[in-house]
Amino acid sequence: MGNCSHMMGSLALGLSCLIIMYGMAVGADQRRLLGETAYDITKYGAKGDGKTDDAMAFRAGCESKTPAKIVVPPGTFMMGEVILSGKCTAPPPLIVDIQGTIMANPDPSSYSNKMWILVEHVDNIKIGGGGTLNAQGAGVWKFAGESNHLPVSFTFQSSSNGDISNLKFVDAMGFHSKLIDSVNIKVSKMTITAPDESPNTDGIHLSNATNVEIIDSVIGTGDDCISIGTGSKNILVKNLKCGPGHGLAVGSLGKRPDEISVGNITFSSCTLTGTTNGARIKSYHKSPVLSATNIVFEDLTMNNVKNPIIIDQHYFSKTQPEQSSVKISDVHFRRIKGTTTSEIPVLLNCSKKEPCSNIELADIDLKPTGEAKSVASACQSAVGIKTSGVLNPPAPKC
Ligand SMILES: *[C@@H]1O[C@H](CO)[C@@H](O)[C@H](O)[C@H]1NC(C)=O
Ligand SMILES: *[C@@H]1O[C@H](CO)[C@@H](O)[C@H](O)[C@H]1NC(C)=O
Ligand SMILES: *[C@@H]1O[C@H](CO)[C@@H](O)[C@H](O)[C@H]1NC(C)=O
Repeated sequence: MGNCSHMMGSLALGLSCLIIMYGMAVGADQRRLLGETAYDITKYGAKGDGKTDDAMAFRAGCESKTPAKIVVPPGTFMMGEVILSGKCTAPPPLIVDIQGTIMANPDPSSYSNKMWILVEHVDNIKIGGGGTLNAQGAGVWKFAGESNHLPVSFTFQSSSNGDISNLKFVDAMGFHSKLIDSVNIKVSKMTITAPDESPNTDGIHLSNATNVEIIDSVIGTGDDCISIGTGSKNILVKNLKCGPGHGLAVGSLGKRPDEISVGNITFSSCTLTGTTNGARIKSYHKSPVLSATNIVFEDLTMNNVKNPIIIDQHYFSKTQPEQSSVKISDVHFRRIKGTTTSEIPVLLNCSKKEPCSNIELADIDLKPTGEAKSVASACQSAVGIKTSGVLNPPAPKC
């Protein structure tokens, strides 16, 4: 308990501490439902007036001695930091059924770790219910910047066996969601919505995540719909609609010295509409030695996409003279069709130090639209380009 008390300044850490301090069973008012006990937050102190911070009402379910389902019923609730940590005593699976709307405390400085809802050190959690998580980010986007990362709406960290389904995220202050240092996660039927001009509001960001499936979802935001960063492996993204936003990205890679290689990443059956990029791999100059291998982009439809196929190893780092040491290989762009607003919709711009190798272009059909009158492809430092099927534009000469 000693290492708890010094953290009490913040509500969130306060919550995890309170879970330890009040670790006895609470449940007077419980209903049996399909084997687990339902903890309706309105029975455990949530006011649902949209003003009172109702985060503490999650505590009872977390502290349950029997399998628990935390229920956020229809209605509008306001919450500051929420932490569901492995300190929860409820036996797995912990079920969180969000039916209503949760609004975030709009003051970004009230979040001690720049996270709104954090799931941490939890094995086997199911979160769903059809409800909405609205971070009310519009008021703070003007403060976003390289040195000021705004709170992430939902973080799944150091956890395993998560099932996140059927939720709506609206207007995150920073990223909408991050899956970090975690394994075996299924994300499905999500809707993420923020305006085109909202800065740094990535839809789903992965960092050191393994065995992740993201399916049947709709993401429109101001930054990457999906960004797959350092250490991520065995990732499938399927049946996704993306737009507006910056598209589907592996990376950015190589910004920090402690990054880990990525691989086995597939994007399949996705539609991109009005995005700045489609299928993208991006890495920084002056990076650690890393690899990005076995990456598949297939069956993608592009509607008015600026850069439908792009490898950019000069991402935000043109002033750094040293080329990227991220080795990109075995990348497959297959069956990618639709319209593009760029006259160079296929660009393989690789590192002069570590050329891209074994890049497949198969059945690509991109037609110019808007300002673009014709299409061509371009290339730097790529070796072993393999082609098949229709190629419009024709493959680049490297
Ligand atoms: C990556 O995540 C795993 C858990 O899946 C963890 O054990 C490992 O320490 C993490 N690696 C880094 C560098 O954080
Ligand atoms: C990709 O998957 C193959 C086959 O399962 C495995 O051998 C390889 O190590 C994986 N690569 C990465 C980078 O995870
Ligand atoms: C690749 O990017 C560099 C840096 O932005 C640029 O100078 C170069 O012209 C690009 N190459 C191609 C083929 O577009």
